Amino acid sequence: MSTEDTDTTASTETETTCGASATTEAEATDSKCGASTTTDTETTASKCGASADDSSGSGSSCGGGSTDEKVGSTVDDFDADPGRLVAVGLGPGQPEGMTERARGALLDAEHVVGYTTYVDLLPDEVTESADELYDTPMCGEVSRTEEAIDRALAGNDVAIIGSGDPNVYALAGLALEILESKGGTASMVDFEVVPGVPAAQSCGARLGAPLVNDTVSISLSDHLTDMPTIESRLHAAAKEGFTVAIYNPWSRKRRENFEKCCEILLEHRDPETPVGIVHGAGREDEKTEIVDLGDLEGLGETDLIDMTTTIIVGNEETYVWDGRMVTPRGYESKYDY
Ligand SMILES: C[S@@+](CC[C@H](N)C(=O)[O-])C[C@H]1O[C@@H](n2cnc3c(N)ncnc32)[C@H](O)[C@@H]1O
Repeated sequence: MSTEDTDTTASTETETTCGASATTEAEATDSKCGASTTTDTETTASKCGASADDSSGSGSSCGGGSTDEKVGSTVDDFDADPGRLVAVGLGPGQPEGMTERARGALLDAEHVVGYTTYVDLLPDEVTESADELYDTPMCGEVSRTEEAIDRALAGNDVAIIGSGDPNVYALAGLALEILESKGGTASMVDFEVVPGVPAAQSCGARLGAPLVNDTVSISLSDHLTDMPTIESRLHAAAKEGFTVAIYNPWSRKRRENFEKCCEILLEHRDPETPVGIVHGAGREDEKTEIVDLGDLEGLGETDLIDMTTTIIVGNEETYVWDGRMVTPRGYESKYDY
């Protein structure tokens, strides 16, 4: 299942009184918060208020290119005492990969808001305890985040969810930026981030010990960062000898980004450098392979590499031992063993 470039929800759309339209796998009625309401139980009216234009997906993966996203409401539009807003990281996917703190935050939330794929990954106890579930497909991140904020400003305790950690290519920062643009403050909604295990770490664990020394994460998504900037970051990371964790590595629309990435890595690294590829860590379709850097580009057209894959490129010292990637920390230069 793709993380970002597929919308898999077959859903019905109805109007909400919070600003846009409601999407539900079961039944949706009016909501007052802003975008689309998805529930596997029943969606009822809420009192949120924003108008969310779901045009946030600009760039190659999300289509469009709009930069005129507007906040639909300000804090002055809400009369109620605000509830809480918590950004919760789910970790890689399976419920046992979630922290106990994340589980508790989700069980405490009245409304859970997220990308459809992540809402689908929630354990039953969470979906059953929430009053409302609200999801949007790929590229709805601005409207979805605004919806979560509006629901909190309207007096609800809201969790906005994402895979991995909310601080890694995710929505924690966007939530604070939108809150500020609405004239609000983080304290007003008791904003909190509940961390989760990021994909690089989940995937590193599947591969052995590839991340033990200095590591740089780079996303190949040119949806929010332009490709020349991504290329110069790749050059710097590869040239300076970091282990490189590559997020958002491939989609049909990003084929050229992936090819360019492989080309840049090979300018600075030996073709035999070990590369770990993990598809769907912690999900039903998990797959792991360790290959040579020289063979990476050819795998871009296979099921192993898509938008639910993280690629870990070893540094000059990384080696493969007994099927595991090992990046030495440097102990061997100080100790005899
Ligand atoms: C928008 S980023 C979100 C990252 C997330 N916040 C984190 O901390 O891992 C999406 C990218 O994370 C990576 N990713 C997310 N879940 C993954 C998983 N279960 N297995 C491998 N990579 C994953 C993929 O590179 C995917 O394209």
